[in-house]
Amino acid sequence: MRNKIEDKYINILSGEYCRLDRIITLPPDRLIEVDMGCGKGSFATQLAARYPDRLVIAADVMIGRLRKLVKRNEREGIVNMRALRVEARSLLVLMMPDRTVHRLHILCPDPWPKDRHRANRLLCADFMGQIHRILQPGGMFHFSTDDVNYLTAVEQVVTASGLFDPYPEGWTDIADLKTDFERLWNAEGKAVQHHVWRRREPVDDPNYRGH
Ligand SMILES: C[S@@+](CC[C@H](N)C(=O)[O-])C[C@H]1O[C@@H](n2cnc3c(N)ncnc32)[C@H](O)[C@@H]1O
Repeated sequence: MRNKIEDKYINILSGEYCRLDRIITLPPDRLIEVDMGCGKGSFATQLAARYPDRLVIAADVMIGRLRKLVKRNEREGIVNMRALRVEARSLLVLMMPDRTVHRLHILCPDPWPKDRHRANRLLCADFMGQIHRILQPGGMFHFSTDDVNYLTAVEQVVTASGLFDPYPEGWTDIADLKTDFERLWNAEGKAVQHHVWRRREPVDDPNYRGH
């Protein structure tokens, strides 16, 4: 049973294959930040509160987590957010228009540490071109994890793509905002590392593979 808050704030996009701007408004005059795999979404809510002039898109496959997020937004009077129930690859590969996103946050994604589960990881070489495509010029990709092996693998695919430059200062304005999982890991004494890269722009380079 759906309720009024969900109808107002959650778009269920399972099985949708059209461009996102046919479903929700993507205002060209506002910066758009995407929290991909937002979970219960404390980070997205804090981000939206900090930047009320921006649009925050919080996306996850789990509807129960999105319900918690929109209820908290309602309590806290957050109105500059859309919650999307959508699979990350559908959103980024099929639905998100080119050069739309100011910052893409993928924070504490499932690390799938066992070798036989590696293919389930969200961040792989194929994904880098799509992340570059959806970012605006100057746009940033923000990744965090407590898993050192996952971090090393992501650093390798980002560097090998040739599409991004390290931009460590790209998250200093939000370094105090923690996700729900980061709080959990910190409480267990585990450190969470953050890395930010900036979209590399087309240059006079015949081998440039960006958009
Ligand atoms: C470990 S949790 C982290 C949640 C949040 N980012 C945090 O740090 O608290 C990973 C989240 O990613 C979501 N997720 C996993 N695979 C996904 C996919 N392919 N598309 C969208 N969301 C996904 C899960 O439902 C879960 O909420």
